[in-house]
Amino acid sequence: MSERIFIGVAWPYANGSLHLGHIAGAYLPADIFARYHRAKGNEVLMVSGSDQHGTPITIKADQEGKTPAEIAERYHREFLISWAKLGVEFDLFTATETENHTLVVHNVFLQLLNKGHIYLSNMSLPYCPRCARFLPDRYVEGKCPYCSFADARGDQCDGCGKPMNYADLIGPRCRICGEVPEPRESEHFFLRLSAFQDELLAWVKKQTHWRPNVLNFTLRYIEDGLRDRAITRDMEWGIPIPLPGFDQKRIYVWFDAVIGYLSASVEWARIQGDEEKWRPFWQDEQCRSYYFIGKDNIPFHTMIWPAMLLGYGGMNLPYDVPANEFLTVESRQLSTSRNWAVWVPDYLDRYDPDPLRYALAANMPETGDSDFSWREYVRRNNDELLANYGNLVHRVLTFTTKHFGDSIPVPDGLDAADRTLLSRTESIFDTVDSLLDHCRFREAVRIAMALAQDANRYLEETSPWKSIKTDRQKTANSLFTVLSVISNLRLILYPFLPFTSQKLHQLLGYEGRVKEVPWRYHELPPEQKLAAPEPLFVKLDDCIIEQEMDRMGTVSTLGNTPAGLGKGELCQ
Ligand code: MF3
Ligand code: ZN
Repeated sequence: MSERIFIGVAWPYANGSLHLGHIAGAYLPADIFARYHRAKGNEVLMVSGSDQHGTPITIKADQEGKTPAEIAERYHREFLISWAKLGVEFDLFTATETENHTLVVHNVFLQLLNKGHIYLSNMSLPYCPRCARFLPDRYVEGKCPYCSFADARGDQCDGCGKPMNYADLIGPRCRICGEVPEPRESEHFFLRLSAFQDELLAWVKKQTHWRPNVLNFTLRYIEDGLRDRAITRDMEWGIPIPLPGFDQKRIYVWFDAVIGYLSASVEWARIQGDEEKWRPFWQDEQCRSYYFIGKDNIPFHTMIWPAMLLGYGGMNLPYDVPANEFLTVESRQLSTSRNWAVWVPDYLDRYDPDPLRYALAANMPETGDSDFSWREYVRRNNDELLANYGNLVHRVLTFTTKHFGDSIPVPDGLDAADRTLLSRTESIFDTVDSLLDHCRFREAVRIAMALAQDANRYLEETSPWKSIKTDRQKTANSLFTVLSVISNLRLILYPFLPFTSQKLHQLLGYEGRVKEVPWRYHELPPEQKLAAPEPLFVKLDDCIIEQEMDRMGTVSTLGNTPAGLGKGELCQ
């Protein structure tokens, strides 16, 4: 029976290029999951968009002497190009600067206000006497009271991930001028999070299928006691408050961003020509909703957004929030300001998407932080993708076309070894199926690649290049068997390697798009016409390791990496 799956993916701030941390953290697992479910015939809605409000955007705009709208628009356009090249296929990737989003945010705000979940109150806020302005939370920095991290921001600590009120910071200072901010009264709207304490706790306790890090972090946090949170700010960039008298204030970026999951669904429905089409994804309790995010976003998705949904009423809560841990690069913490990162547009200028998708999936930070290194990237490309999978395919296809013309050999009387490998292929499908359904991507891709290894071993044992001289039918059987495994690997690996699978689909003589083929074990059609063989992967020279490492940590302008070699060029 077909299922309905909603997939929300964290909205990237439109203030800089995407880097590998974003991809490994949220976008790649979400895309693998979505491709898998679509290919299984399930109804999937995967949405996200550019997070265009808040101080992350205004700080960048100030630095560049541009308007926040210009910055937001520039990176939004860049994101769309990255998704297309990387093969991250959203049903809709929109932005928070749309009229639709403002309308939906206003609707949620007013409904929560009318139901008493939002109230107006005075709060004391940091005001910088030298800059003569209120300082939004990201403009205040200081020491974290929980973990003593030195440069915690007023909204969240990057050291321990805890959300923060600026007043919690030890030794707060103005980010613009370094002055000590002084408290001043300001009127703001608050989300009555404290009122959801018991309901949230009871709900979270039932989510035993969540990853332990997500579940434990959330439980500890709720048990510490939830406090009401201000959801408006003294600033000019953002969504206006839908009430008279608050012209100088805007809705807090996080409050509007999480509502993006809903507004994007509404926008998607309208684009589909059916205004109501979003409803089953939000209101049919049979629909499972998944939120793919990095671990720094956990509180917003396991407490604040659920509280907002509970308060709004009649909406599905997250089914799972498979947050990933962090990705380090060459064993160091990613730092955009020190350019210690691999930028997605830059990577895609020089390399293919699938080797990156593979390297990140095989080492996904699912249960702990993991590291990306160029040496490991080259090794995975050459020794795993190319040597294990690509060569298998290429050897078998060239041998087959050489000895059996341009079509798949017809089997007759498969022996025990042939049948063992085929039934193993069938059972691996089931294993990978269950792993993917449980968001265990790393293990899933490992098991899939182990099947390619088995096929290589089988090929060595049956040695068609020898048997061709004595037994043509036995050779046909071996080739048919291993081509069957390859054809199934094309599907098993499709969620991870969509471009490669499409290429293999054509090489094996299938027509149309591999994404339209049902994701399940299938038998190979004998006599199908094969295309002229072509390698699936490009071998990478070890010299790129040094070359790529030289490019990191060298420039101060974000995302503006020095010119390197063009695609396909080899280093000296
Ligand atoms: N822009 C935020 C970040 O990069 C993530 C927002 S996720 C959403 O950390 F919930 F707001 F959508
Ligand atoms: Zn200041």
